[in-house]
Order: sequence, then C-alpha cells, then structure tokens
Amino acid sequence: MFFPLPDDSNHTERTRDRFNESWHRMFMAVINAVKLVLGAATILLMYLWFGPAMEDWFRGPDPLTPQQEKAMLSARSERAAKAEQDKIENGIHMATGLKVAEGWELVRTTCTACHSAALVTQNRATYEGWEDMIRWMQATQGLWDLGDTEPKILEYLANNYAPDESGRRANLDVDEIEWYILEL
Ligand code: HEC
Repeated sequence: MFFPLPDDSNHTERTRDRFNESWHRMFMAVINAVKLVLGAATILLMYLWFGPAMEDWFRGPDPLTPQQEKAMLSARSERAAKAEQDKIENGIHMATGLKVAEGWELVRTTCTACHSAALVTQNRATYEGWEDMIRWMQATQGLWDLGDTEPKILEYLANNYAPDESGRRANLDVDEIEWYILEL
C-alpha cells in the first residue's frame, strides 16, 4: 500500500519504507476498530430486535391462572368420566351391561330413559314377547311411540335377549357348509 511521504529528498529508502509500514499499521488498526464497532453495533441491534422474542422462547409457557387450572382439571375429569361411560369390554357396554351389537345404542338411549338397563338385560323374550312388553309400557307406563326405531330395537332385543332355548344358534355343521370364494 502506498502512503505519501512529505516530499523531502533527505529521506533514505529505508526511512521511507519504515514510514510506509507504520502508516499501514495505523490504517489497519483504524479499520479493525471500525469493524469491531460495526460488529458490536450489529449484535446490539439484533439483540434489541430479537431479544424480547428470544426471552419468550426460554421462559416457557405462562403459569395457569387458578380458573384456567380448574377448567383444565374439570375438562380432564369429564373426559375420564366419558371414557368410563363408553367403556366396552368383551362386547359388553360396561356402564349399562348391554351387549354391543347392531342397534345397541338405540336401546341405550331409548330404554334407559325411565329405568336402568338391567330391566332389559335381565329379561328374555322373542321378538313378539319384546313387542308385547313395549306395548305394555306404552299402555301403562307412558312409553312413547318409537316410530322407525321400533323394528330396529326389537331386532336387537330379539337377537341378543332371546329366550334361552332359542338364544343360542345351533353349532355349525362344517361338512354342510358350501364354501365359496369371496370376490372383492
Ligand atoms: C317412559 C318410560 C319408559 C321407557 C322409555 C322404557 N320403559 Fe321399560 N318400563 C317402564 C316402567 C315404568 C316399567 C316398570 C318398572 C317396574 O316395574 O319397576 C318398565 C319395565 C320394563 C321391563 C320389565 C317388564 C316386566 O315384565 O317386568 C322391561 C323388560 C322393560 N321395561 C324394557 C324396556 C325397553 C326394552 C325399553 C326401550 C324400548 C323400555 N323399557 C323403555 C318405563 C319405561
């Protein structure tokens, strides 16, 4: 790098070189100082800009207010109660004791409005027998017209709470079965 030396012919080549060298060092020192200041300013600016957001990252979620905590706990126990209500084990709906089969939810909603499902599960009857019980409840106990749901309810009852003798289907006779390929 070239730095002008005051024009004075007395300087030797060596003095000139040394002068140039010291100029160069000073110049680089100034440049480095400027870089340092710019770097520090950049970091400061970034901190001012992003600092608040970063504090949020590290702080974690706000603690819950007592109301929020109560709401969370009650939502959790509601969910647990609902799960308990819906629990099904070995094909039996645990809360009502009803067998889980086609139409069972209709029976659950319709037939537990006035009494426990135990009245249903403890009884056995044919389709007609169940129909008679429904007619009796309609005549004397204020059971409403079941409309379209009646045949579905009766199907469920007759299939799942049939008189014991006819309640169990005969064993399959494997030799009698005509096997066929299921086409999908
Ligand atoms: C409007 C109210 C009501 C509804 C809904 C109702 N029942 Fe009843 N049911 C009664 C009453 C009241 C009794 C008599 C209870 C008693 O004797 O303690 C009864 C008795 C019964 C009995 C016992 C009958 C007997 O001979 O001992 C059965 C079985 C029965 N209900 C089945 C059902 C079925 C199945 C459904 C759904 C289709 C149903 N109930 C819906 C009111 C109702």
